[in-house]
Amino acid sequence: MGELLGDIAAALIALSGLAVVVGVIFIKRGDRVWHPRVMLLATVLAALFLVFYLLKWGLYGTTRYVGPEEWRGAYYALLISHTILAALNGPLVLWLLYNAFKQRFAIHKAWARWTVPVWLYVAVTGWVIDLVLKRYGESAGGIGF
Ligand code: HEM
Repeated sequence: MGELLGDIAAALIALSGLAVVVGVIFIKRGDRVWHPRVMLLATVLAALFLVFYLLKWGLYGTTRYVGPEEWRGAYYALLISHTILAALNGPLVLWLLYNAFKQRFAIHKAWARWTVPVWLYVAVTGWVIDLVLKRYGESAGGIGF
């Protein structure tokens, strides 16, 4: 069950990253109808990811890295950068949406240039971390079933 929740969370974050890329393609083509739709979909997918991730965390606890020692530093660099940027992404996205709905598109555009790379970094590294822990992870405890 824990694995299933993890797989769903990983799929959601990957899909949210994909939706961001599609949303950027739409606005680059000048499509002001599908850009907001797809970006709102990306936001919903990211929010759903958070729900599944927190559910897994609450029920099954965290997973410890037990892979090769020489990769430990690289793994933690990835994990820490991912976590910090993921926390930052939330307020950045809310700020982007707020400015978009207020029709302050110059501000929206300026912040979007930073938010999109952050979002994509978080999505890709989240997916990589999930893959690493599938191979080299060990349950670090939790309530469990
Ligand atoms: C969090 C979700 C969103 C993200 C990540 C996002 C991202 C972006 C990006 C990357 C651009 C292009 C910036 C550039 O050309 O350099 C852009 C432009 C734009 N976005 Fe969004 N967007 C989001 C949500 C929305 C929403 C909900 C709306 C409408 C209500 C919207 C309306 C626009 C418009 C009209 C532009 C064109 C601005 C201009 O060229 O003056 N966006 N957005």
